[in-house]
Amino acid sequence: MAQHTTIREILRDQPVGTAITVRGWVRTFRNDQFITVSDGSCIHALQVVIKKEDHGEETLKRIQTGTSVSAAGVLGKSLGKGQAVELVCEQLEILGDCDPQEYPIQMKRHSLEFLREKAHLRFRTNTFGAVFRLRHHLSYAIHKFFNDRGFFYLHAPIITGSDAEGAGEMFRVTSLDLAQVAKTGVFDPSLDFFGKSTNLSLSGQLEAELAALALGKVYTFGPTFRAENSNTSRHLAEFWMIEPEVAFNDINDNMDLGEACLKYCIQYALEHAREDLEFLQEREANEDKQKPVDERQAMPLIARLELIAGHAFERITYTEAIELLLQSNHYKKKKFKYPVEWGIDMQSEHERYLTEKHFQRPVIITGYPAAIKAFYMRMNDPDTQGRKTVAAMDILVPGIGEIIGGSQREERLDVLLSKCAQFNIPQEHIWWYLETRKFGTCVHAGFGLGFERLIMLVTGMGNIRDVIPFPRTPLSAEF
Ligand code: 4AD
Ligand code: MG
Repeated sequence: MAQHTTIREILRDQPVGTAITVRGWVRTFRNDQFITVSDGSCIHALQVVIKKEDHGEETLKRIQTGTSVSAAGVLGKSLGKGQAVELVCEQLEILGDCDPQEYPIQMKRHSLEFLREKAHLRFRTNTFGAVFRLRHHLSYAIHKFFNDRGFFYLHAPIITGSDAEGAGEMFRVTSLDLAQVAKTGVFDPSLDFFGKSTNLSLSGQLEAELAALALGKVYTFGPTFRAENSNTSRHLAEFWMIEPEVAFNDINDNMDLGEACLKYCIQYALEHAREDLEFLQEREANEDKQKPVDERQAMPLIARLELIAGHAFERITYTEAIELLLQSNHYKKKKFKYPVEWGIDMQSEHERYLTEKHFQRPVIITGYPAAIKAFYMRMNDPDTQGRKTVAAMDILVPGIGEIIGGSQREERLDVLLSKCAQFNIPQEHIWWYLETRKFGTCVHAGFGLGFERLIMLVTGMGNIRDVIPFPRTPLSAEF
């Protein structure tokens, strides 16, 4: 097809008087004259003006919401309000019809739940256009952030033979004939494709550590899988994670890196996706009007993002966090559903209280009880009361709770071996991981940033199913 110009370019350059071709999908058509066409390149549509008398009744009828068209003409200054320029159409070609009786995406407000059922078409709405353009910008920002700091992008395997992470339930990978297995009642992993049992990866961390202990600074950015049966607005069975791992970084360097990374991504979005953010801000404000006052956002989206990008994150220890929760009126009025005491794995209600109510900004919590964290986290010296903690850190943000989880890693072989024993991890399962502690071990640290949670933070979308193109959740893998 001959060259066409995207609406984004047209609105940026405004080449009034030039002949151009636009291709996209019809949003609205009024007075048999004005077509708004959207091509996904930006949040805005372009007004295409046709002359009714140039077209037969039949053609005019085919211009429906969703119809794909190619419009050639000359760009002019618009006389109407709402747009600076418009295309005065000389040649209109209908590329693909769209039957209004069947097309589910009409020019009215659809609920996000309804659109989830139409995930194949929801890209065509303004909201999802903005969300998925932001998803792109944030991916790019992640790569730019790490590349500019001398990190190397590492591709961790998606199929793993290790289950040491312990981050959750795993999806098994097999090429065995399950009907046969059911018939014989025998499932023998040694007969399977890899000669052993394998799973979809929960995290690329252990592999990233191996690479960091040679390349220095690496990060992964790929899909990870968890078969947890948690049907919440913040959990997916398939999500994307960014996992930097850095040799010679300790827990403080790790916190600095996590904070800098989040701020950079937010700043990048503010600078490169401003119009989409403005649209999403307005969308959120409209949604908020339907909600009870205490559930509304205290501040508009862009102001919230600027606040996060412009201020130091709060940093407290787990012990201090528990103390704050115990001292809170919320606790005294018995408003927490789950108990609060030293040693608990904080629930999302606790995390959200700290970041949303108490500090009203991002918080980094360090020094978690060793018993509730993974085996590879570095043991701290026991505290004054003899309690065992690890050099772990979680970053919590308002509206979401945990967005980053990470730690300094246990680099001492003897300590690591005793942790394996405590956590019932057979050494032969991770002999390769243990060898790095034998051959030139060193202090190192890293974290995992949930990519969808980052997109939720930046777009203000309240459900994680609405920031990934095709969400995988319990009992749902359509498309
Ligand atoms: O805290 P998690 O489980 O940490 C790890 O997997 C470590 N191996 C990371 C590391 O140190 N390299 O997960 C990290 C982040 C969470 O903070 C959260 O943002 C996100 O991944 N996450 C999920 N996002 C969507 N759906 C889920 N089911 C998620 N589970 C974790
Ligand atoms: Mg975590």
